[in-house]
Amino acid sequence: MKILIAGGAGFIGSHLSAHLLKDNHEIICVDNFLTGSKKNIENLLDNKLFTFLQHDVTKPLPQNITADAVFHLASPASPNHHSRLSYHALPVETMMVNTLGTLELLKFAEKNRAKFLFASTSEVYGDPLEHPQREEYRGNVSTTGPRSVYDEAKRFGETLTAYYGRDKGVDVHIARIFNTYGPHMLPEDKRMIVSFIIEGLLNKPIPVFGDGTQTRSLCYVDDMVEGLIRLMFYPGTKGQIINLGSSEEHTVLEYAEKVKKLLGSTSEIVLTEKLPTDDPKQRRADITKAKQLLKWEPTVSLDEGLSKLITYLKEFKT
Ligand SMILES: NC(=O)c1ccc[n+]([C@@H]2O[C@H](COP(=O)([O-])OP(=O)(O)OC[C@H]3O[C@@H](n4cnc5c(N)ncnc54)[C@H](O)[C@@H]3O)[C@@H](O)[C@H]2O)c1
Repeated sequence: MKILIAGGAGFIGSHLSAHLLKDNHEIICVDNFLTGSKKNIENLLDNKLFTFLQHDVTKPLPQNITADAVFHLASPASPNHHSRLSYHALPVETMMVNTLGTLELLKFAEKNRAKFLFASTSEVYGDPLEHPQREEYRGNVSTTGPRSVYDEAKRFGETLTAYYGRDKGVDVHIARIFNTYGPHMLPEDKRMIVSFIIEGLLNKPIPVFGDGTQTRSLCYVDDMVEGLIRLMFYPGTKGQIINLGSSEEHTVLEYAEKVKKLLGSTSEIVLTEKLPTDDPKQRRADITKAKQLLKWEPTVSLDEGLSKLITYLKEFKT
């Protein structure tokens, strides 16, 4: 099968590309390197089944490109307002790629009669008033707050995707991805677990926002990739919206302590500043639907996943 991966040079997209290549699919990786890196795909470039196209997906794809399936993973994803790669630093790009970019890729899927998967996010639930979050929950999102450039753009991306499924007959799928981690996360995008490891490795203070009692659940990237593939290709998934993530929940402080212990670091854990505006206080996926429809649930333990990420970051060179 010929599969187009928008955002294929990013963290999740590069793992997805590698996995699908192993299954002998032909991959067209489309990326403009806004937040991704050539380094993530350099081991794939020699593969005859792999084509890279440097392109901004908010613009129409070249006429000669065709595909049987489209994964739309293109978007900044880091919420850390101290990072130049976060959606706070790239607000217009984030809004456009999840709206205009989604529309362009849906038009392409319609023309090619291709299956389509939109990488949405748990952020569509905002700072949730229901816990854990089921797919039916409509969320608690500010339309104008600082996180809205991401949250609302993703919500509109879902609206576009659902419309193309309902009214134009495109075989659409929506993944609501919860926090994912693993190798190929860039140190500069400063996502929580990466920041903890980088500071821990240097024995510098590990910064924790707020009082650290806010919770997160982390899914290892190999599990996420398996979930995305099943959601795209399993029977009975057309038009479905499915949460993909871990249901193992810990406080942010517990993650900092776990990292420190695994590293044997002398870092001090420091409660730095108040919680960013609209930062979710509780975050855990209800994955009942994924278990039923996809026979999917995460298999990689937190210790195993963190050890792999630590090894990657120890060796990381720009
Ligand atoms: N990683 C997570 O924890 C997480 C959680 C929820 C949702 N998601 C979603 O999953 C997807 C992948 O996330 P990620 O963590 O791999 O992020 P990432 O930033 O590592 O990857 C995104 C890729 O998209 C590319 N891109 C951005 N704008 C583009 C454009 N206009 N045209 C072409 N390419 C463009 C970037 O260069 C990058 O390579 C994103 O849509 C993100 O919102 C990720």
